[in-house]
Amino acid sequence: MIKTRALIEGVGHAVPRRIVTNDDLAKFVDTNDEWIRQRTGIAERRLSDPDETSATLGTAAALQAMERAGMSPDEVELVVCATVTPDMLFPASACLIQDQIGAKHAAAYDLGAACAGFIYGLNTASALIKAGEVKTAVVVGVDTLSKFVDWKDRSTCVLFGDGAGAVALRATEDGDRGVLKTVMYSDGSGACHISYDAFGSLHPYSRDGGGDSRKALYMAGAEVYRFAVNAMGDACCNLLEASGMDTSQIDLFVPHQANLRIIDSAAKRLGLPEEKVFVNVQKYGNTSGGSIPIALFEAEQEGRLKKGMVVMTVGFGAGLVWGANLVRW
Ligand code: ACO
Repeated sequence: MIKTRALIEGVGHAVPRRIVTNDDLAKFVDTNDEWIRQRTGIAERRLSDPDETSATLGTAAALQAMERAGMSPDEVELVVCATVTPDMLFPASACLIQDQIGAKHAAAYDLGAACAGFIYGLNTASALIKAGEVKTAVVVGVDTLSKFVDWKDRSTCVLFGDGAGAVALRATEDGDRGVLKTVMYSDGSGACHISYDAFGSLHPYSRDGGGDSRKALYMAGAEVYRFAVNAMGDACCNLLEASGMDTSQIDLFVPHQANLRIIDSAAKRLGLPEEKVFVNVQKYGNTSGGSIPIALFEAEQEGRLKKGMVVMTVGFGAGLVWGANLVRW
């Protein structure tokens, strides 16, 4: 029987113009280059200016992915934007992107799964393609967390950067290529460990700006670290088992780029050698929803991701949510 799958035909990315190094940060936050590098592997990140938003970065990444896929705006039937930092609570940033890329015939929605957003988004779009509901889709992963952190809180602000990545998907019946399998998980009992609670229905808008909202991202770093180390390894092992594959069949491992120590421990548990692990956290910090598609873009640019290769992605984040995709490029 011929199987329909979602094939990644093009990848794109867009990062803000402004590069901010650890030394730059140390000028206004009580931190230093050595601490940040040792604990996280981050050397610099991109921070957006006021005119650079999740929708503008997402649009640029989507256009690049479409161009590389040879996909015209008229062909796009679905735009999924995985983000927890939309331009506005509503309308969805996916609709702003849909308009800007000229995808007049597309449905569009946002998906909130934080740093696992791209994993969830790719699976959702791929499932609609598999089911025959749409033939093409653009999945954007983007976040601009620099606009939501407290720039006086050194335990969080040094970790994040802004950026977007996107893929253009098309239905294929070319047997073994495309999105092969995904696993997705959640545990809302860990919601308290990482959150941004301002201006939701719990802490709504108030005319005097009052209320008990924290108004900045909150993260219990050590709890998230412990969760992440287990979640990354578990998701990958479950994915491989469900696919009847083992780590020796993985050509490239593209994990969520939050922290080099977390990436190293996942790679070690999976027994993956260094040359099969893609890392760019040193350049961008944690770009949340943007992290995995930006890494896929760079891996392809560097010639480390070629047609026919098997790539495994894995992500975790606020929710708590986590998951992993297996794709034959
Ligand atoms: N510069 C200098 N010192 C610092 C800084 C800083 N930027 N931040 C904290 N410190 C200090 C602390 O105050 C503490 O000092 P003390 O011992 O005198 O109290 C010391 O450094 C150690 O702090 P820890 O928090 O114990 O450091 P740890 O080794 O746990 O690393 C980190 C912290 C990097 C945040 C780690 O816990 C981590 O990576 N957690 C996971 C974060 C993550 O991956 N989040 C992803 C999800 S994000 C999403 O979904 C949107």
